[in-house]
Amino acid sequence: MNEPSWWQTGVIYQIYPRSFMDTNDDGVGDLAGIRARLDYLQWLGVDALWLSPIQPSPMKDFGYDISDYCDVDPLFGRLDDLRDLLDDLHARGMKLVLDFVPNHTSDQHPWFLESRQSRDNSRHDWYLWRDPGPDGGPPNNWLSSFGGSGWAFEPRRGQYFFHAFLEEQPDLNWRNPAVREAMLEQMRFWLELGVDGFRIDVIWHLVKDEQFRDNPINPDFRPQTGDHNRLLTTYSADQPEVHEVIRGFRQLLDQYPQRMMVGEIYLPLERLMSYYGSAGDGVHLPFNFQLIRHPWDAEAIAATIDRYEAALPAGGWPNWVLGNHDNHRLATRVGAQHCRIAAFLLLTLRGTPTLYYGDEIGMQDVPVPAEAVQDPVEGRMPGLGLGRDPERSPMQWDDGPFAGFSRVRPWLPIAADHVQVNVASLRSSPTSLLNLYHQLIAIRRAEPALALGHYRRFATPPQVLGYLREHNERRLLVLLNFSAQAQEVALGMAEGRICLSSLLDRPAQTVAESVTLRAHEGLLLDLTCE
Ligand code: GLC
Repeated sequence: MNEPSWWQTGVIYQIYPRSFMDTNDDGVGDLAGIRARLDYLQWLGVDALWLSPIQPSPMKDFGYDISDYCDVDPLFGRLDDLRDLLDDLHARGMKLVLDFVPNHTSDQHPWFLESRQSRDNSRHDWYLWRDPGPDGGPPNNWLSSFGGSGWAFEPRRGQYFFHAFLEEQPDLNWRNPAVREAMLEQMRFWLELGVDGFRIDVIWHLVKDEQFRDNPINPDFRPQTGDHNRLLTTYSADQPEVHEVIRGFRQLLDQYPQRMMVGEIYLPLERLMSYYGSAGDGVHLPFNFQLIRHPWDAEAIAATIDRYEAALPAGGWPNWVLGNHDNHRLATRVGAQHCRIAAFLLLTLRGTPTLYYGDEIGMQDVPVPAEAVQDPVEGRMPGLGLGRDPERSPMQWDDGPFAGFSRVRPWLPIAADHVQVNVASLRSSPTSLLNLYHQLIAIRRAEPALALGHYRRFATPPQVLGYLREHNERRLLVLLNFSAQAQEVALGMAEGRICLSSLLDRPAQTVAESVTLRAHEGLLLDLTCE
């Protein structure tokens, strides 16, 4: 292996800027707030920050509807604040990854404002315009991922435009070379500014079927997953030509040293792997969401890890994600007792971990009363639990009235448990979940076996997940007890040394032949000595 890159050995920390830290008393987080919390992030030990979009936006989808790719929305600050943040991060040896949203713009973007005017303006073919179907309705059956038809009518053109998400997020026409060129320009702007990489929003959506064929019925449709799952996305996403677009992104990134892109891709394993490209021309990391909606069961997880490891192409670097701004909170999904083994898993598997802000203190979903709902998904598909406000609640810094996030009432409610569950109190408690994250990240940094080593399953009782991480002479064993009972695991060898317990209360002790895990305990053992 060549010298590994920062995005291979490092830990990525996702910040949802609206909810991290508010310094200008408007109840919404800002760039100055992120800067003000860098000491904490450096202490935690993360290597790179990924910020959900900070560009100017009408905020219909909270920044994922961009009206100017090359600036900062005043809500978050100014471009100079971004420059300052970047300087501060680089001075600390940390990296900055920006969200980049190429599939669609805001309907307020000048490109769309022009495109919708007429059929013959200079940007008439920058979006996906189609004549009405034979009955005067939408041109085909494609749906919006946020519910309802994916087509909206524009009387000025007498045509429909496609939007995979909100009507206010029209999809760009990536088959148009002018669109590609323009988008590369926008990326170049940030690369020249010095950002270290991009998280590319819904990258598998970029190119659509050239003939706009109807999508087939989804035979496995379950209504509780939302109306948009009635159809498969056979023709509206994951088209072969998308890889050509990605090659263009990659060629641009490769002109700058040490830059990377991570692609948001919700696809089955086999399809996901194609996004690594061939011969290093794909995304550096196709986000691996295998565990983000996975049953929390040791055997099933072990099988998924094995399948993922086996499916990776030669030279494809793995990555793992347990939480983000589109999925229910990790602590809510797995339950508070399982948060420690989840931390262990994320930070000891082979591949780059991405950690969602607040998961390190065990933040839970925060229920949002109907009248306070912000997320358009909840508005359009109410009552199914698909709304994403609960996992976007403000970061819990201390036990103050607004959890130290703001001096005023924030845009989303603060968790009731913030009085106990907050950075200040967990940081001062030596055996807290937060200190476990801190220690795991530190060990990961110190141990090439964790950062770079091979992965191999280790035989365990059914409710224990066990694997080895090996590098050169070093052999580390991870054991995670998913059950509420103690579990004994045979080591089948002379002895090992306990490096870390997820409960942070076990001294570095030598064990021989077998080791007993307490309920929900995770252990890291050094088996090197033989
Ligand atoms: C991605 C984002 C999500 C957004 C959607 C549309 O899935 O993560 O938050 O709503 O794209 O841009």
